[in-house]
Amino acid sequence: MSFITSNDGQFGYFDTQLRSPNWKGKSVLDFGGNIGNVLRHPRSRIDEDRYWCIDVSVDAIVAGKRLAPEAHFIFYDRYNFEYNPAGQPDLAIPVNGNRFDFVLALSVFTHTPKTEMIELVSSLEGVLNEGGRLAFTFFDPHYVPPDSQVCNLKYYLKRKWPGLTKPEIDGQVERTRRASWCALANGELEVEDEGLDKLRGDPGKGYLVFYSPGYFKSLFPHGEILSPVNPFPRQHCCIITKGKSDG
Ligand SMILES: C[S@@+](CC[C@H](N)C(=O)[O-])C[C@H]1O[C@@H](n2cnc3c(N)ncnc32)[C@H](O)[C@@H]1O
Repeated sequence: MSFITSNDGQFGYFDTQLRSPNWKGKSVLDFGGNIGNVLRHPRSRIDEDRYWCIDVSVDAIVAGKRLAPEAHFIFYDRYNFEYNPAGQPDLAIPVNGNRFDFVLALSVFTHTPKTEMIELVSSLEGVLNEGGRLAFTFFDPHYVPPDSQVCNLKYYLKRKWPGLTKPEIDGQVERTRRASWCALANGELEVEDEGLDKLRGDPGKGYLVFYSPGYFKSLFPHGEILSPVNPFPRQHCCIITKGKSDG
């Protein structure tokens, strides 16, 4: 079975980062939205029939359709090492001519190589209505959430490599201290390298990528970089607005 998310705080996260916009009557594309949990949050004001979800996890798309029959769930059979290893590389986003007031992507480009993220973000900017906003998250490797003592990179290294000792983990984190970005490619820590050659065999250790906020801003100079908010206290957000926003 392909991936089904257990996250349920997506609406609160984006509502805060986008400063509580008027969602009523607005078209929303949840890119990598999985089963569409952003719709089911008790405070969600997104209209079901104005909601589109595009995801590479076929089982999530089937389940999402069943849970929200008036919404639009579209399977995107694009290759992703972790989530759709049998998919086709470089497939265009299946938006079918639609345009959106909001495009959201929570923890999607945290699992996508940098060149692919840049290409997909450019395509997603192209499907925004005038005044529309694209909000997507990323990990800063050295960010420590307020209620934690562990930076993002250390947190994920511990999860991917449970056998590593504390000095070994600290040594790995140190390797990235002056780097602008790094990737955990199927368990291998790559510094300023996508590590695509590591993406073979069992995708058990997945793919995770981390950027310093300053470097992320240099990739998307027209984007606004925001610090993490609950309930995803490890995820920074980048917001790109097309033209003048009416909120
Ligand atoms: C960590 S999960 C996050 C899911 C959901 N956004 C959430 O907050 O629970 C990453 C999601 O991105 C999807 N995904 C990965 N690569 C994708 C791509 N190129 N296009 C669309 N979805 C993608 C995965 O199938 C998965 O559902």
